[in-house]
Amino acid sequence: MKDYHPTANLLNDRVILVTGAGDGIGRVVARRLAAYGATVILLGRTIRKLEQVYDEIEQTGGPKPAIYPMNLEGASPKDYADLATIIGTEFGRLNGLLHNAALFAGLTPLANYDTALWYRIVQVNVHAPFLLTQALLGLLNRAPDASVIFTADQASETGRAYWGAYAVAKGSAETLMKLWANELETNTSIRVNSIDPGQVGAGLTLRAYPGRTPDEWVDPEAIIPTYLYLLGPDSKGVTGQLLRAQD
Ligand SMILES: NC(=O)c1ccc[n+]([C@@H]2O[C@H](COP(=O)([O-])OP(=O)(O)OC[C@H]3O[C@@H](n4cnc5c(N)ncnc54)[C@H](OP(=O)(O)O)[C@@H]3O)[C@@H](O)[C@H]2O)c1
Repeated sequence: MKDYHPTANLLNDRVILVTGAGDGIGRVVARRLAAYGATVILLGRTIRKLEQVYDEIEQTGGPKPAIYPMNLEGASPKDYADLATIIGTEFGRLNGLLHNAALFAGLTPLANYDTALWYRIVQVNVHAPFLLTQALLGLLNRAPDASVIFTADQASETGRAYWGAYAVAKGSAETLMKLWANELETNTSIRVNSIDPGQVGAGLTLRAYPGRTPDEWVDPEAIIPTYLYLLGPDSKGVTGQLLRAQD
């Protein structure tokens, strides 16, 4: 999908929530969604980072975004319900939901894996997207063709050594995506897919390979077309798919 050419106003009138919008890929994607007309709800745990993205969007003339600070590690079902209530009050619907946030805490052999860290990673990378999707279903149903995106990583498919709970959680999230897609295919117009961004010069890849510089990796801007395709109207009817953003 890297050769997809979106129209200038592709995402006009769409309200899209991006988790982990303050840094890495989420930051780049959030800015680009706004550039194509979306009203972006920036969700993340570090307010300072969210405010920076907010300012960047305002400075480039995009629709006024919203900030929703939330720590997905400790969030309860009530926190998700409160978020849904607030989005309903402010916007009345949700056209797009991008599960981008992830907890990655470095490379560790399974033999030495810290149990508490394992639970934290699974909480953020699997339980949170499940709970968030469940809480926001009503708002997604109010949009004419809502799009939900999970974020995949080949570390899970290949069982890449030392990627531990992160890889396990990404595999589970992929199953979760297919379950949602199959269950929502009948009686709703909500499509659910995954994007595998591939390794890019931003975010956790830079932390996983500290000996390499950002310019040794693919520019994160190069993966944006796939996000635009799945969040815009051109992907209507596409569901249950894993799209590789660098193909
Ligand atoms: N970078 C790559 O090359 C690559 C490759 C394959 C897949 N991916 C996937 O792409 C997505 C983005 O990755 P990235 O590299 O941009 O990662 P990143 O730089 O580590 O950013 C992850 C984002 O998630 C947020 N986050 C982490 N824990 C959170 C929590 N408990 N509550 C709320 N937000 C939380 C972070 O917030 P803070 O900024 O506050 O920490 C950050 O904004 C992830 O799903 C990742 O698995 C990335």
